[in-house]
Formats: sequence, C-alpha cells, structure tokens
Amino acid sequence: MQHDTIIILDYGSQYSQLIARRVREANVYCELYSWRTAADVILAHEPKGFILSGGPNSVTEQGAPTLPDYILSNGVPVLGICYGMQLLAHRLGGRVAGSKKREYGPAILRVDALENPLFEGWKFEGTGYPQQVWMSHGDKVESLPAGFEALAHTDNSPLAAAAHLEQSYYALQFHPEVVHTAQGQRLLSNFVHHVCGCGADWTPTNFIDEQVAAIRAQVGDGRVVLGLSGGVDSAVAATLIHRALANQLTCIFVDHGLLRQDEALQVVETFKREMGMQLVAVNAIEEYLEALEGVSDPEQKRRIIGEKFVRIFEREANKLGQINFLAQGTIYPDVIESAGKDKKDAHLIKSHHNVGGLPENMQFELVEPLRSLFKDEVRRTGTALGLPDELVWRQPFPGPGLAIRCLGEISWERLERLRKADAIFVEALGQAGMLRQGTQQAFAVLLPVKSVGVMGDGRTYQEVVALRAVTSEDFMTADWARLPYDFLAYVSRRIVNEVDGVNRVVLDITSKPPGTIEWE
Ligand code: XMP
Repeated sequence: MQHDTIIILDYGSQYSQLIARRVREANVYCELYSWRTAADVILAHEPKGFILSGGPNSVTEQGAPTLPDYILSNGVPVLGICYGMQLLAHRLGGRVAGSKKREYGPAILRVDALENPLFEGWKFEGTGYPQQVWMSHGDKVESLPAGFEALAHTDNSPLAAAAHLEQSYYALQFHPEVVHTAQGQRLLSNFVHHVCGCGADWTPTNFIDEQVAAIRAQVGDGRVVLGLSGGVDSAVAATLIHRALANQLTCIFVDHGLLRQDEALQVVETFKREMGMQLVAVNAIEEYLEALEGVSDPEQKRRIIGEKFVRIFEREANKLGQINFLAQGTIYPDVIESAGKDKKDAHLIKSHHNVGGLPENMQFELVEPLRSLFKDEVRRTGTALGLPDELVWRQPFPGPGLAIRCLGEISWERLERLRKADAIFVEALGQAGMLRQGTQQAFAVLLPVKSVGVMGDGRTYQEVVALRAVTSEDFMTADWARLPYDFLAYVSRRIVNEVDGVNRVVLDITSKPPGTIEWE
C-alpha cells in the first residue's frame, strides 16, 4: 500500500523527531530527512506536503542551511516552523530580522483568521481561545513576502502565523509539535489532513498487514533467526515475524543471569508457551559469571557481555542448520541517527543493540520490520499484536543489564540482593500507579560500599541500595522524579527488612546532565 506521505526536512531543531511523531499520531505516514538530502530521494516518496523544521541558525548568516528548490517547485503545501518560517519568508522576498533577545517559553496566540483550515476545531475544544503556544526563537519575520497574509499574532510577534493561501505555503513562528502548545497536535493534524489532503491510513492494523506481506515476500521459504532480549523492540519484531512466517522463525534467548526478577521466566512463558514460538533458551549464567569475575570497570563489563553474547548467539545459530535471514528490532530513531552520523542512509546494524551487537562475519540478509516506527508506535503495534501490557510498557533496560547496576565486582549473591531490592521498588511504583506515569525509568542500584547499622540489638555492617527514578522524554536529558516521602519511607522499610545483606537505602537526586541515568 502506498501511503499518503509527508516529508519533514530537518534543519537541526531539537524538536524535529517530535514533528514526525505528531504527524504519525495523526495517522499519516511521514519521514524525516536532513535538508541536504538529494532531491530524487525525497521526491521518490511522492510527498503530499512538506514540513520544514526549526533550527539553530540565522537565515541571513553566511553558509546557513537553505531551502532546496524542489520544495517550492513541487506544487504541494509547505509548512515552515520557526527557522522553516524564516527560510520561506527570506526566499520569497520577506524580511527576516536578527534579534539579540531570544523569546523562549509560553506565549498567548490570538488567531485572526479563524476560518483558516489550520485552526479548524480550535474554538470547539472547550479551552476557548486565545491559546497558549510555545516560542523558542531569536530571529523573526518582520515583513511578509507578497501574497502572504497574517493569520495570528502574539504580544511579541505580530506575525506568529502566516500563509500564502493560493500556494498553500504556511508559516509558524511557534512550535506546534511540543506539548506546551495547547492545540499543536490539532494544528498539525489539520495541516496534513485538510491542507495536504492526506488520508488517515497509517494505523497499527494496516502496518501489521503490510509488514506480514512484506516479510513473506522477502523471506519466501527461507529461515530466520532473531535474538530476543526481553525488551520491547525485539519482542514486537519477533511477534510480527512469527505472525508472517510461523515456524520459519527461530528465536534465541540468552539468559546471562543479569536480568531482573522473573524476567527470563516471563520471556520463555510468553513466547514459547503462550505464542508457540520456536525458542532456544540458553542458560549461560555460569559462563557470564565466570567471565565477569573480578571485573569492576563498567566499560570492561560492557565489552565482556557484548562479546560473550556474540559468541553464544553464533554457536546456537550454527546449531540450527541452514539459516538465511537475521531479524533485528531496529527502530526509526536508530535509522535516523545512523544516517545522520554517517551522512548516508545505510542499512546499519544497531550499534548499541540491546543484546550487545551481532556477529559480523555471519552471512545473513537482514529482516527489520520495525525500521520505520517510533518507540510509541512499536508499543501500539505490540498491543495490536496481542502482547501483554507488562511487556509492551516495559521501561528501558540496558543491554548489559544488572551488571552495570551492581557496582563493583559481580557475584550471584550480590545480583540476587539487587534483584530483590529492585523488585520491591518497582512493584511499589506499580502499585502506586507511577510506572507508566510519573517515572520513565526507575530501578535500584547496589553500591560497593558497606555502612554500619543497628537491627534489633545487634550492630550490622552491610551494603547500601540507591534508588534511582527519573522523568524523561527521550533519555537524553532527565530529571529525578519527586517521589512522595511516605512512598520512599515504605520502600526503604521493605528493602531493609526483606533483603538480606542491605541495611541502608539512599535516594539519587541528580538530574541528567550532569549525572547519567545509570550509575555505570
Ligand atoms: P545514561 O545512563 O547514559 O542512559 O543516561 C541513557 C539511557 O540508555 C540506557 N543505557 C544503555 N542501554 N546499553 C543499552 O542498551 C548500555 O550499555 C546502556 N547504558 C545506558 C539507560 O538505561 C537509559 O535508558
């Protein structure tokens, strides 16, 4: 199925991926490309509209990113956001002025052209108007090019929204893609549906049907192997491929002993028993513990775990006989980031893949059915495929697992201690309704430190557990979650009472930056 497609040109804004996610939320397929991408790559999509992102530059500056010619000559609608607006104005003969004073934060938008399709449905939302929008800019458009008219203003920006109605060029000074713009999702949805005329055909059900057909066409009667990590991406990829190919797919799950409580069991239970997949579950706990003995340097831990995985995966895959395809849970942000770094849209293997990289010398063709999906779309697809909520809504978990949360040297005893403390914390968060909302990642860390305590009449000298819980949009930055004191008291009491060898619990109150989310 050929989807109505919107192309978003990336000019370097921190919000570019968000624009793409919002368009997809409106059930319209879109792709994000650097503004430098060759015209034929972009035009091969036969786009129904373009969105130009914001960016850090000034359009008037020497060497600033420019507007490719095909954008204006293609005859489809264009929406410029922030830098995108300035680009359109600059190119078409308007005046863009630099400003030393940045406008950053909320502003009140007053719509002057309520009949414009961009604002359809705004006033019926119950929130009324004026509306809050989010500004983040230095330069601004001071006079519009010929043929444009102003659509909305704020106190600071007389030209907060403008359009050339005949050509269907639209320009916004504010950012509709961020949640702080109250009607932003509605505005983007209006643009893609009412201005560009896109249908709402990008849905999980359509995606599943198309991918099932595509996987069958690619693989034929070949055989596929996939490394299950217990994470969301590989789980959804496996389920989708299994729906397409049934027993032509074999999954390999390497239990390295570094998973959280009951996780290994849950993987086998879900995929083998409930879904009837061919699953090779390898108990490699001893092998990993031996390799990690005496190691406390975090990078060395990561390297050992990665290398071990490759070796075990290779060994197990070889036992399966003739296999021609390797499936991976690569998702769209991995593709965009690899393409961005290497300046080419390469078919790259996920470098920090959850299961720790894959054998380089194995001659496989890749099957990557989730390559076009954002994380939230992967989750929706997982739900549509019937995967349980615990799996679909799992918080991120690092490939090296508890090895990088068990600080210092690793032993089975210490891992078990950490697993118990972590299970208590996560269970309590779940009961308090804070696992999906309130924290984006939460876990316990076992510190390589002992401290003195008193229990009953006796003195204790035992290990310390740190609680780490963060709120974050994308895990690039994060803030520590403000958990209620009573909740923390409950968790601390339970950990010290129930986990042998731990007599003290502390809370990590560091944001990222300057800290990282993990401790190692
Ligand atoms: P940091 O600690 O860098 O983590 O703030 C950001 C996000 O990445 C996860 N993380 C990893 N994931 N392998 C992974 O697959 C790793 O080695 C690794 N280290 C950190 C971390 O859990 C957080 O979500």
